[in-house]
Amino acid sequence: MRVLVTGGAGFIGSHLVDALVARGDEVVVLDDLSTGKRENLATVADRVQLIVGSVTDRDAVAAATDGCAVVFHQAAIASVPRTIEAPVETNAVNFGGTLNVLEAARAAGSRRVIFAGSAAIYGDDAPLPVGEDAPLSPLSPYAVEKLCAEHYVRVWAPLFGLETVSLRYFNVFGPRQDPRSPYSGVVSIFVDSLLRGEAPTIYGDGEQTRDFVAVDDVVRANLAAAAVSAPVGLVCNIARGEATSLNRLFATLSSLLGGPAAPRHAEARAGDVRHSLADVTRARDALGFVARTPVEVGLARLVEWARGVRGRAGADPGSG
Ligand SMILES: NC(=O)c1ccc[n+]([C@@H]2O[C@H](COP(=O)([O-])OP(=O)(O)OC[C@H]3O[C@@H](n4cnc5c(N)ncnc54)[C@H](O)[C@@H]3O)[C@@H](O)[C@H]2O)c1
Repeated sequence: MRVLVTGGAGFIGSHLVDALVARGDEVVVLDDLSTGKRENLATVADRVQLIVGSVTDRDAVAAATDGCAVVFHQAAIASVPRTIEAPVETNAVNFGGTLNVLEAARAAGSRRVIFAGSAAIYGDDAPLPVGEDAPLSPLSPYAVEKLCAEHYVRVWAPLFGLETVSLRYFNVFGPRQDPRSPYSGVVSIFVDSLLRGEAPTIYGDGEQTRDFVAVDDVVRANLAAAAVSAPVGLVCNIARGEATSLNRLFATLSSLLGGPAAPRHAEARAGDVRHSLADVTRARDALGFVARTPVEVGLARLVEWARGVRGRAGADPGSG
């Protein structure tokens, strides 16, 4: 089957591409390489058609979608601070780019679009664990853009007969996540600091919680969304349904990596969600998806990968 992965050179997208290539799909990637990297596709480069272009460019999206039965739309500017700095630009990508993808999929006769949504749309008010029907109160342009895009994705199903699934990812972590990203990269930022022998900074008391989900599970959720029978605007949380505090995250990583015994604490940041925890019932019932990788196992894999990258970069292994 020919499929398109927008944002396929990024963190999550590149893992998805690996899995699609492994199962024998013909994979097209559309990525402007703004945060994605060619090296993320290094092991599958000869089996993937990489189109370097933007989802804001309708011609590029049309060319990439041509002949594709399924579109996995992962491309986005996935940084809350960036959307606060430049909302017009990020809206064009996160919202406008999604509309372009939907229209291109419709024109190309694609069967299905799977959209990378975000738990950011819930904000801080919803009762926990948060289900998909909870009230939504996005707190940033990023969350607003993701929510508006998700509405388009949902509406395109009954309007145009396009099968669509929106997956609301919670905090995804794993190899290839860029530690310089200030959003949802808390795991990779901690790993990066500890490898350098530095104490990572926790904003607030560290008892805030996140529902961390390993990237291999997010890939499995996408494959399940591609396989489920005739979804019409389906929306599902993708998470483990398990809360981990940042203090516990630090303790686990510091036992894997050594280094400073305590994190640095700084004042809590305005706008940070205090607790995040998903109700994962719908993903189980509608997609047959249950996250399999325990957080500790995912963290151990990430640490192994990060050590390898650091080793190859010639960093002093004694410094971490
Ligand atoms: N990482 C998380 O915890 C998380 C949580 C919720 C939702 N998401 C969503 O998952 C998706 C993947 O995020 P990620 O964490 O892999 O981030 P990422 O930055 O690694 O991946 C995004 C990819 O999109 C590409 N891209 C950006 N703008 C583009 C444009 N205009 N045209 C084409 N490509 C463009 C980037 O180059 C990159 O390869 C995004 O839609 C993000 O909003 C991620």
